[in-house]
Amino acid sequence: MFKPDLTRAEVTPEWMWNRRKVLGAMAASGTGLFATPALSWQEVAEGLEPNTFEQITSYNNFYEFGTGKDEPLENAQDMVTSPWTLVVDGLVDNPGEYELSDLIGDIPTEERIYRFRCVEAWSMVIPWNGFELNKLLAKVGVQDGARYVKFETAVIPEVMEAVQYPILDWPYTEGLRMDEAMHPLTMMATGLYGKALPNQNGAPMRLVVPWKYGFKSIKTIRRISLVEEEPLNTWQDLAPQEYGFFANVNPEVDHPRWSQASERLIGGGLFARRQDTLMFNGYADQVASLYEGMDLTVNY
Ligand code: MTE
Repeated sequence: MFKPDLTRAEVTPEWMWNRRKVLGAMAASGTGLFATPALSWQEVAEGLEPNTFEQITSYNNFYEFGTGKDEPLENAQDMVTSPWTLVVDGLVDNPGEYELSDLIGDIPTEERIYRFRCVEAWSMVIPWNGFELNKLLAKVGVQDGARYVKFETAVIPEVMEAVQYPILDWPYTEGLRMDEAMHPLTMMATGLYGKALPNQNGAPMRLVVPWKYGFKSIKTIRRISLVEEEPLNTWQDLAPQEYGFFANVNPEVDHPRWSQASERLIGGGLFARRQDTLMFNGYADQVASLYEGMDLTVNY
């Protein structure tokens, strides 16, 4: 329908606005992020058309607010995320209960377009704002014995109605091996599309590990612990034969109840586009070396 008073922002699809910003940032920095010849995230992102803000913020998994995809948008809005206490403990030089902004406020954020592949065989392309997790870890000082990073989501029964039911073993827990946590692709996201992270997407801060299934991307992080032993993650705890610690996107290792060889891109409408799932979700050039010598059918 003709609208005579459209603003420029209204007629510019969000992904085009975004692409311009990314290309601008690339030109300004001159070089890629990586010293190796591996493709940078920008090169991987080239040609990817991000999902709309509306799609990314209305089709969510955040079981603390209900198991329906539309429930987090509906139920998460009353969560207060500022001020926010982040507990950092375990094998770190500077453990403590931080006010989040005191800890991360001076870390510059950047925008990255990443593929996002859910274990349920759907995917999106998401323009995140945030910073590399290794920058936060450098601030708290990782000690020698630390081999894994364990993350926990806040449990706030006043607003998270579902935590009174034993749907999952709360708090939602995730973990990364130290080299995965330090990898430059691994991000702490604090926003998307240049806006503050909506509650349903994990405000005030969530993990994003683009080569792993989406459940590794733990939301609304309350606690980060540096530990010696591999932590059990929530889904692995619930069904170890279906979900492993690594959860690397792998089209060759099917979930026991469905194929992982292809995925449905959210937003495809009636004729939903199905596309082949890529090894490590398309990030193999950057991350395959982390798993050299490992049998990925055993370490799924
Ligand atoms: N984090 C918490 N705390 N609770 C959850 O239920 N779901 C995970 C992950 N992080 C989940 C979570 C799953 S299964 C997916 S696919 C992603 O969040 C979804 O992230 P999105 O809603 O931003 O797309």
